[in-house]
Amino acid sequence: MRFYRAVILAALTVVLTATPCELLAKKKQVKWAEKQLEYCNRQIERTFETLPNDSVLPRSIDIDKCSWHTTNAFDWTSGFWPGILWYNYENTGKLTDKLQALAYTERQRPLVAKKHQPDHDIGFQLICSFGHAYANTGRAEYRDIMLEGAAKLAKLYNPKVGTILSWPHAVSDNGWPHNTIMDNMMNLQLLFFASKNGGSEKYREMAVSHARRTMKNQFRDDYTSYHVALYDSISGDFIRGCTNQGLNDNSFWSRGQAWGIYGFTTVYRETGDKTFLRFAEKITEAYLSRLPDDYVPYWDFDDPAIPNAERDASAAAIVASALLELAQLEDKPEMAKKYIKASEKMLHSLSSPDYQSRKQNSAFLLHSTGNLPAGYEVDASINYADYYYIEALTRYRDYFSKIDRL
Ligand code: GLY
Repeated sequence: MRFYRAVILAALTVVLTATPCELLAKKKQVKWAEKQLEYCNRQIERTFETLPNDSVLPRSIDIDKCSWHTTNAFDWTSGFWPGILWYNYENTGKLTDKLQALAYTERQRPLVAKKHQPDHDIGFQLICSFGHAYANTGRAEYRDIMLEGAAKLAKLYNPKVGTILSWPHAVSDNGWPHNTIMDNMMNLQLLFFASKNGGSEKYREMAVSHARRTMKNQFRDDYTSYHVALYDSISGDFIRGCTNQGLNDNSFWSRGQAWGIYGFTTVYRETGDKTFLRFAEKITEAYLSRLPDDYVPYWDFDDPAIPNAERDASAAAIVASALLELAQLEDKPEMAKKYIKASEKMLHSLSSPDYQSRKQNSAFLLHSTGNLPAGYEVDASINYADYYYIEALTRYRDYFSKIDRL
């Protein structure tokens, strides 16, 4: 409620002071976003024409190729395709689009099977599929699946550390004891959802504790982040920060920071605790201050190959979406304005011929970097870049249409 009141108040403030010229500009912004969303819709139709069969999920396309690498429900990226289809349905309102979204959501059911032991990615996998399905249909069955997922995620929480063990497999594979990765900030949403929808209040407490510990230990003094934080699972002490997907342990991996910006914005929305808002501002500033001219980051801000290093369009899409929410939660109008402008710039770059896939392949975007150190999905099209891009465009369109309607 507080959030919606804030949005309406912000919109009213703008409209009461807006000139006819400004209102016209807003109409243009809405139209521009609608045009990009129509592009997304066309690319989705093309993907359906090229998918090898209907039991697989599209994940990524290599540079200069046009066919999708596909995957199944257990892959960490499995929620993004159904999530894209839900946003597409919300934008077209067509029954056939809804049926597609529902069909792909249904494929995620094995994730809540009793025997499946997930890692933190169960958040991404369920929020983007069943989370949207519940929001669009109100069916209790989908809410219950989210609750089952939250119970699984909560099992990974270590009360001594106060965070979730993100990658149980890395305890033996990497010799990493209790590891918490920045990406995990995105999945606290599942715990907040569960507490608000019939689950234990403890889930929410876990999420808040996780965010506080991450805020304390997983950022350097300059507010750049470590991808991974290692903790002693017995004493709960922080051991050190390191990386899995960045250039090195002390480098500034752009997507990690993007997950942090989005995640702390969510935690502020859910708690109303200004500590999280002030922190989201600081880590956003650290990110914005290192961006190149087009606002699409290099995959790692410390790569010595810059300006010839790879970009990461996925990080740009995640931050573009996060800033649209952060702006609407802001208590400082000048910061809100700055975030809307920054997000707009990111979306304009991503929607240009430099980044949209267009005829090259049927994804929305080119030039994401999944895991450069491991040598895969480098300068590729990746489904999570597309998911946050369509989400950001939808948020952008909605933000300016609300102002138009008042
Ligand atoms: N969650 C894994 C990644 O960002 O690549």
